[in-house]
Amino acid sequence: MVGLAEFFERKPNVEVVVFAGKGGLGKTTSSAALSYHMAVNEGKKVLCFSTDPQASLSDIFERDLFGKGVVEVAPNLHVVEIDADKRIAEYQQEIKQKILDMYGMDELPKEIEEYIDSTSAEPAMYESATYDAMADLVASKEYDLYVFDMPPFGHGVRMVAMAEILSAWVDKIAEARKEAAEYEEVAAILKGGGPSEDLVLKELEDIRDKMNTFTKLMTDPDKTAFFMVLVPEKMAILDTERALAMFKELGIEMSGVVVNQIYPRELLSRPDLPELLRKKIESQEKHLMEIREKFGNLVAALIPMFDREPKGLEMIAKVAEELMHSRRELLWW
Ligand SMILES: Nc1ncnc2c1ncn2[C@@H]1O[C@H](COP(=O)(O)OP(=O)(O)OP(=O)(O)O)[C@@H](O)[C@H]1O
Ligand SMILES: [Mg+2]
Repeated sequence: MVGLAEFFERKPNVEVVVFAGKGGLGKTTSSAALSYHMAVNEGKKVLCFSTDPQASLSDIFERDLFGKGVVEVAPNLHVVEIDADKRIAEYQQEIKQKILDMYGMDELPKEIEEYIDSTSAEPAMYESATYDAMADLVASKEYDLYVFDMPPFGHGVRMVAMAEILSAWVDKIAEARKEAAEYEEVAAILKGGGPSEDLVLKELEDIRDKMNTFTKLMTDPDKTAFFMVLVPEKMAILDTERALAMFKELGIEMSGVVVNQIYPRELLSRPDLPELLRKKIESQEKHLMEIREKFGNLVAALIPMFDREPKGLEMIAKVAEELMHSRRELLWW
């Protein structure tokens, strides 16, 4: 048997599902389909989440969701598309305000302001903002299931290298704090009181705690499932192999791979089949065999190639059916 239904029967306590993989192979499609199934067919309260600046959840759900907060697109199915740049700006504003409050200043010293503003150009900041947004959503415990549609940077595996991201993030604040401390004396003289060291430290500890709790959740194989989406093509297979190695290195269990865009082989028996399509199907056959060899036991679900891009709830429901209860005949073994 293949299909994610079986996976979730075995792992009923999963709270977070992450779809990762190379660009354009079906992460968003799989995320939407799983979210739809869990919400509409199983009645779970689901949050489907993305930070993709291309607003692909808006695209697939055919709703304008980008930067609009949480929107319920079907009963129990909640979707949020975070504007990461906006989040970074808000986050910087928050840091500035905290420094002002803690040090009792009316205005930030120019150097500090410039330093904080300059951090938005760093990729680590983008990832931190993504990670932070995810951690906040999960911490709310409002939903039964969180489905993360990863943006196409890297493998989406990077985000599980949390220790690194966490420390980059905390370091940034610690650094800003240190710089602010240089103005401590001046501020103290102006305001007649120094900053509260405890407050600053507590702030850092809170951040660390939040990140640690989230990291623990993300690395717990009973609570979090990672799926790689691939298609029967050479590059996708290579990429998945690399991702598997990275997972191993990070000590994280990959739950399985979803093989998408498989041409049904019964097409081959059609006499009017265009030569181009026949070649494509034969090439897929070869690569499916390779997938069997390389990831055999990890193949968790199969999705056929549809005659059009799956968009809108009706099509998503169809993909969900294939994803949850995959047809074995899509495989060549
Ligand atoms: N099984 C399928 N049959 C037909 N079209 C599909 C199928 N799966 C995905 N597509 C189409 O392929 C394109 C890429 O899919 P999708 O957006 O899900 O990939 P992605 O991995 O999220 O991409 P990105 O990395 O850019 O976020 C979309 O236009 C989608 O509609
Ligand atoms: Mg996508």
